[in-house]
Amino acid sequence: MAIEATVQTTIYEAIGGQAAISRLVEAFYHEMDTAPEARDLRALHAADLAETKRVLILYLAQWMGGPNAYSAERGHPRLRARHMGFRIGTAERDAWMLCMVRALTVTVPDDAIRQAILGALAPLADWMRNQPETEAGAAPG
Ligand code: HEM
Repeated sequence: MAIEATVQTTIYEAIGGQAAISRLVEAFYHEMDTAPEARDLRALHAADLAETKRVLILYLAQWMGGPNAYSAERGHPRLRARHMGFRIGTAERDAWMLCMVRALTVTVPDDAIRQAILGALAPLADWMRNQPETEAGAAPG
């Protein structure tokens, strides 16, 4: 009789661990730096992105089931609270997602994994909005 095992793995392991997350974050900020649609989003960020990149790598690694280095350093993510200082409406959310879709497309070849990541990130990005929007989706005023 053969033995069977169900091996479950994390998204972090499935995409290739720390090296893959670093490539993803590099590609994400490259998009933010160069895509015309992301100009206003880029302007919200610090001129030097080194620290932002470092922290997003820690966060995404933890969020995808890798080491808990983000929380070891910063405590509970409180991601929405940490974003309250920035004006985030639908335009910023959409620009953020655009950069992430493009970064995932070039760094995560597996369709199913990419869709799983995007499916979980989209509501998170939406939750980051902190500006009232009109029904048309544009910020009032
Ligand atoms: C939806 C639109 C979003 C906008 C406009 C936005 C914008 C920003 C800005 C301006 C910063 C500060 C970086 C700096 O000053 O250089 C930041 C930090 C950060 N963002 Fe976002 N963000 C968004 C969504 C997200 C999402 C969905 C995630 C997680 C998947 C995320 C994760 C982070 C992390 C981990 C940091 C560093 C926070 C820390 O210092 O601990 N952001 N974001």
